[in-house]
Amino acid sequence: MIGRLNHIAIAVRDIAAASRLYRDTLGAEVSSPEPLAEHGVTVVFVALPNTKVELLEPLGEDSPIARFLDKNPDGGIHHVCYEVEDIGAARDQLLKTGARVLGSGEPKIGAHGKPVLFLHPKDFNGTLIELEQA
Ligand code: CO
Repeated sequence: MIGRLNHIAIAVRDIAAASRLYRDTLGAEVSSPEPLAEHGVTVVFVALPNTKVELLEPLGEDSPIARFLDKNPDGGIHHVCYEVEDIGAARDQLLKTGARVLGSGEPKIGAHGKPVLFLHPKDFNGTLIELEQA
């Protein structure tokens, strides 16, 4: 069902400092910060030859990553995103196995303008999984 690794998302407290780290210390290609108010994050895309890393800084009062950063003050890997061909079919198949889909279960439009769903980390080795329709 899952295909390519679309991105790894890392929650950070200071996206300017994290951008410098990826650009200057690790020598990666780093985008300008983009505020995504509807997702409660500011995001920077780090382009790698085979995938992307997304640096996420909380934006606004009820950012979905604020609590994560309370628990992980140094930041950390927040989720991994795998591509699927048909997100509705993937969801139905996962629900049949007893896996929990977060929220209403209906795909939302994610940071890349494509439908996404999140799977409960307790069902997947403590890792929050995002599925994105390729
Ligand atoms: Co993501």
